Parts: sequence; structure tokens; C-alpha cells
Amino acid sequence: MRIILLGAPGAGKGTQAQFLMSKFGIPQISTGDMLRAAIKEGTPLGVAAKQVMDAGQLVSDDLIIGLVKERIAKEDCANGFLLDGFPRTIPQADAMKDNGVVVDFVIEFDVPDDVIVERMSGRRVHPASGRVYHISYNPPKVAGIDDLTGEELVIREDDKEQTVRKRLGVYHEQTELLVGYYRNQAEQGLTKYHHLDGTQPVDSVSAQLLALLS
Ligand code: AP5
Ligand code: ZN
Repeated sequence: MRIILLGAPGAGKGTQAQFLMSKFGIPQISTGDMLRAAIKEGTPLGVAAKQVMDAGQLVSDDLIIGLVKERIAKEDCANGFLLDGFPRTIPQADAMKDNGVVVDFVIEFDVPDDVIVERMSGRRVHPASGRVYHISYNPPKVAGIDDLTGEELVIREDDKEQTVRKRLGVYHEQTELLVGYYRNQAEQGLTKYHHLDGTQPVDSVSAQLLALLS
């Protein structure tokens, strides 16, 4: 099963990707997580991406498309994958199509901007696994510690309110166009498109997702 999780920063894509990974046994491909790993390792990609990400802007299409192509060619993607944070622009979506990548489901997470700003202020992440927590809505068992590894959780560099608002602006300007793009593909029978109310609690969003995908 090949799934695109589409939605604004903080809409819950990463949270639900973790749930779907365990449910369907397909890998999460989060371009954001891949870029953050590259920054940590100090690779040329990481060096190129750091300033852009800290400013809440998008990394260039060429870099991202190359990264995803390489990733989905790997063996663990043979039975499907979850795209989280990709595609984010029309050229990225076109590149997938031109590459013959057929997507079974596109799921749009709908969450108003103000709810998102509040969510991001309480987000904590475990960088190595991509697991995401919230200090109130989805807390770890021990504050500041990842449930599975016991390692420390961190606050993302781009979760400052000003940067979150910038990222939301970029989403509305550049990524929201993909709603129309994929609705149109669904009308042509090329994929299935579902709109989801992302303001519900985490477990209820998971239940909605499961119903849509089963
Ligand atoms: P990326 O890492 O993809 O960030 P994003 O899309 O901005 O999304 P987030 O990870 O912030 O949010 P999410 O939807 O995963 O929400 P989460 O589950 O964590 O990208 C970062 C940057 O990398 C970009 O700005 C760009 O520079 C670059 N980049 C990445 N991909 C790119 C691309 N394709 N092209 C160009 N540049 C790219 O949840 C958020 C919080 O809410 C958490 O605290 C969580 O616990 C909580 N929460 C989740 N669900 C619920 C719920 N139902 N109720 C209450 N709280 C909830
Ligand atoms: Zn995420």
C-alpha cells in the first residue's frame, strides 16, 4: 500500500505515520526526518538544508526529489510506503507521477492554524525513530524521555512560534495546491483521496484512518 499523508506542519502526519507503520508494516518516508538526520551528520545535503529549514522555507525540489527517488528504490519499500511531508510542491508531485509511482491513497489532514500553533509549542520528538509526543495531548510515560529507548526527547529547531507561522504560510502558498491536484487525480481514478478531521484526539484520528484504509 502506497500512501501520501498530506497536511500542514503539525497536522499529525508523523504521529499517524508511526501508527500506520506498526499496523501495515510499511516504512515511513519523512523527508523532514531525513533532512534532520543529514543536518546531524553534517552531510552536504544537511549543510544545504539547515538554514532553509530553520527559516521555515522549503528545501529545493531537486534535492528533495533525488532524496525520495533513492529512498523508494530500496528493498523495504517493495510492498509500499508512507510518504510524510512529500510531495510538498506541484513539481515534486509531477516528479513522482513522471517516475511512474502510483499512489493508492492520499489522506488530507485538516487542522486550523491556531490549533497547530498550540500543538507545536508542546511537541517533543525522538529524532532517531521519528516518534512524536506532546506534553499534554500525547505525553511520554516519563517526561522528556522516549518510551521505547529511554533516550532524551528534544524540541525541534523550527518549532518556535514565529517559524511555525512562517511554515504555515508556506503550506498555504505552495503545498495546499496539492489538495486540488490529488482530488483531480482521484476523479480520474488514478488514486483515492480522503479528507480527515485532524482536530480529533490522536486515537480517534487513528481509528478514522484505519476505517478509510481497510
Ligand atoms: P517536516 O518535518 O515534514 O515538518 P512539517 O510538514 O512541517 O510537519 P511536522 O513534522 O511539523 O508536523 P506533523 O504533521 O508530522 O505533526 P506531528 O505528528 O509531529 O519538515 C520540516 C522542514 O523540512 C520543512 O519546513 C522544510 O524546510 C523541509 N522539508 C521537508 N520535506 C520537504 C519537501 N518535501 N520539500 C521541501 N522541503 C521539505 O504532530 C505535531 C504535534 O501535535 C505533536 O506534538 C503531536 O504529539 C501533536 N498531535 C498530533 N496529532 C494530534 C491530535 N490528533 N491531537 C492533539 N495533538 C496531536
Ligand atoms: Zn512530521
